[in-house]
Amino acid sequence: MNKIRVAVLGYGHLGKWHCQKVVAHSDRVEFVAIVEKFPAGQIQAKTNHPGLRVVSDVSEIMGEIDAAFVVTPTSVHFELVKLLLENDKHVFCEKPLCSNDHEALALKKIALDKKVVLQVGHSERFHEAWERLVPRLHALKTPYTVRINRVAPFKGRATDVDVVQDLAIHDLDLLMYLFKQKPKKIKASGIKIRTNKWDHATIQVEMEEGCEAIIVVGRNHVKEMRDIEVISQDGMIFVDLFMNKILEAPKGEVSEGVFVKEDTYPKRDHLMLEHRHFYDSIQNGLKSVVGLYDGLAAVHLIDCTLESMDRHEAVIVKWT
Ligand SMILES: NC(=O)c1ccc[n+]([C@@H]2O[C@H](COP(=O)([O-])OP(=O)(O)OC[C@H]3O[C@@H](n4cnc5c(N)ncnc54)[C@H](O)[C@@H]3O)[C@@H](O)[C@H]2O)c1
Repeated sequence: MNKIRVAVLGYGHLGKWHCQKVVAHSDRVEFVAIVEKFPAGQIQAKTNHPGLRVVSDVSEIMGEIDAAFVVTPTSVHFELVKLLLENDKHVFCEKPLCSNDHEALALKKIALDKKVVLQVGHSERFHEAWERLVPRLHALKTPYTVRINRVAPFKGRATDVDVVQDLAIHDLDLLMYLFKQKPKKIKASGIKIRTNKWDHATIQVEMEEGCEAIIVVGRNHVKEMRDIEVISQDGMIFVDLFMNKILEAPKGEVSEGVFVKEDTYPKRDHLMLEHRHFYDSIQNGLKSVVGLYDGLAAVHLIDCTLESMDRHEAVIVKWT
């Protein structure tokens, strides 16, 4: 089987890790080049990957690649993904796929005509916890309530976007994936603390069948927390995504006199799994694990959330 010729676009915080994963798959992938727009990143890329081509614009290597990883700031995802699709390249784009519904619609029009793989980097889907819990979550009796926290101290990254595009996108995507329900109404509020964009957001989501979720995301918190709790008439499930723990308080006892069960699961290399899926989709025709429609749906929910925050009122989510 021919090796897939790939480039990584963007050699910043995450681009470095994507490059490592490309190198780790050298049995099935040929690493053609790193595309980094700015000199500081180019120097780092050359230092860390001696002998590899480093160019400043993707057009310089377009004719030499089959696929590309877009790991640039979100604000340039659209123009790069569009260009790659127009040139019939397979694309792995870091989340979010693009910045808004308007761009999403344009990408959809192009992507549907192309016979290429498009995968979006919704990496939070790759926790081992979901393999254990998804069948149960899909079968949960309604109504139930979901609460999600994703907060961290300020890291100075991703300030080209707000906290909804940077963090809440993971949780809006997870809601649809874990509970197989599409949100129908969103009421969100936000606070600008450190940047001129939303740094903290509280998002109330009304789902189908009377279920509700509340998502809290923040990038100016005192500590790092990533967890999800689900409360239904059968009890409570709490997943600590930071500590890789599942705690459960079911309706009855878990054993004599004990009401809380604790389990741990191994931390996995999500990026490695995402790369493997991408290459499998290209070489073996497997369906994209997080494809075009997942990427578009998440962007749509971001748009609705931001609209609600700007207008200070609930927004009905329209699905076409
Ligand atoms: N899946 C996750 O959990 C996760 C985690 C972190 C970041 N991300 C996403 O990854 C993307 C990159 O984030 P980051 O933290 O690495 O950002 P970053 O700013 O550290 O790096 C981006 C790099 O892209 C370069 N760049 C900008 N425009 C370019 C262009 N046109 N062509 C080539 N290079 C260009 C910049 O110079 C920079 O080096 C963002 O979309 C972010 O949302 C995802």
